[in-house]
Amino acid sequence: MTTLYEEIRPEPHGGIPVRRVTITVNGEKRVAEVEPRLLLAHLLRQGFKLTGTHTGCDTTNCGACTVLVDGVPAKSCTMLAVQADGHEVMTVEGLASASELHPIQEGFKDEHGLQCGFCTPGMMLTAKALLDENPDPTEDEVRWALSGNLCRCTGYQNIVKSVLWAAAKMRPAAAADQDGS
Ligand code: FES
Ligand code: FES
Repeated sequence: MTTLYEEIRPEPHGGIPVRRVTITVNGEKRVAEVEPRLLLAHLLRQGFKLTGTHTGCDTTNCGACTVLVDGVPAKSCTMLAVQADGHEVMTVEGLASASELHPIQEGFKDEHGLQCGFCTPGMMLTAKALLDENPDPTEDEVRWALSGNLCRCTGYQNIVKSVLWAAAKMRPAAAADQDGS
């Protein structure tokens, strides 16, 4: 068990109660003691040091903080850490394997889907949820899926192309999975 609350605030003061949460993050079970008001984004960034999850607005607008909770995109700036208790969370750090980029990451690289990269982790996780559900999306479907993620740098053309690139690369693998099941 890893208790990370102490790294966020060494000595809880003011008698604020803490609650122990167990969250599977990128496939690894993590335990933390948190104040009930702690945001999931802050637990991920400050507690678990997963700083790929960005916070851009703190008001559920920009999508930079998007993570997957049980496979569904969630804006971690407006979700409490205690709400993730018992659930599976994927952050952008969970996309690549030890030796290979995820096809979505390759797509963003090949199709120039980023400039500053601030929005990119959230974009990638939203794209992953889309492609897991719909391996062959149309351009309109990609645009609709990404409509909760804002980019202030690139416009969206290359981001959409990146996701379509990844979809094309992932489709043979998805088909093979279905054949084998
Ligand atoms: S930081 Fe969460 S939506 Fe902008
Ligand atoms: S690449 Fe800079 S905000 Fe999207």
